[in-house]
Amino acid sequence: MQFFIDTADTQEIKALVEAGFVDGVTTNPSLIAKSGRNILEVIAEICAMVEGPVSAEVAATDHETMLAEGRKLAAIASNVAVKLPLTVDGLKTCRVLSDEGHMVNVTLCFSPSQALLAAKAGATYISPFVGRLDDMGKDGMDLIDDILEIYSSYPDLQTQVLVASVRTTRHVERAAMLGADVVTVPPKIIWDMFKHPLTDKGLEGFMKDWAGTGQSIL
Ligand code: G3P
Repeated sequence: MQFFIDTADTQEIKALVEAGFVDGVTTNPSLIAKSGRNILEVIAEICAMVEGPVSAEVAATDHETMLAEGRKLAAIASNVAVKLPLTVDGLKTCRVLSDEGHMVNVTLCFSPSQALLAAKAGATYISPFVGRLDDMGKDGMDLIDDILEIYSSYPDLQTQVLVASVRTTRHVERAAMLGADVVTVPPKIIWDMFKHPLTDKGLEGFMKDWAGTGQSIL
């Protein structure tokens, strides 16, 4: 399973690239707003930091403007994936950009029906928002299970399932258990994945006992 980082904060991305856990990056208008940066500049900077796909989302909602924005975003770098909302206009734009050879990440997916339409529109990635389904009392990971089951019936479908709106390390674990292709994770959750109190306690005990030997390996 590939790990994409869900942020437009270049310092956070740099730290995780150095740790070796970045296969790609996803952004959206809210994350760009949070960064306080110009979208064209920050996406160009991220594309230079990361070899893998970098999702940059259009801001328009009509097909013609989405298409113009998508082509402009795609021109920033070869690893840009144009992010489009799962609407009629978004999927019309997805089909055109996909046919032009651009990577497309269809976002704001909340049902298996939507995911099926996105695959038929040629999406490179589908982004089901599991956390927001959890917020309304559902189990967002059930959607991932359903989408993977549908896609598995049609091997010629090339769309990769990119689990998004991840809020916990358990979301990441369950995405991997289900066999999702990609998970996009806020930086804090990645760092949380390293942590366990028994690891800290065990290492402390090893170091204490080692100190008692008076030995040095070097
Ligand atoms: O990639 C989508 C993600 O940024 C949305 O997360 O927590 O706002 O649902 P959240």
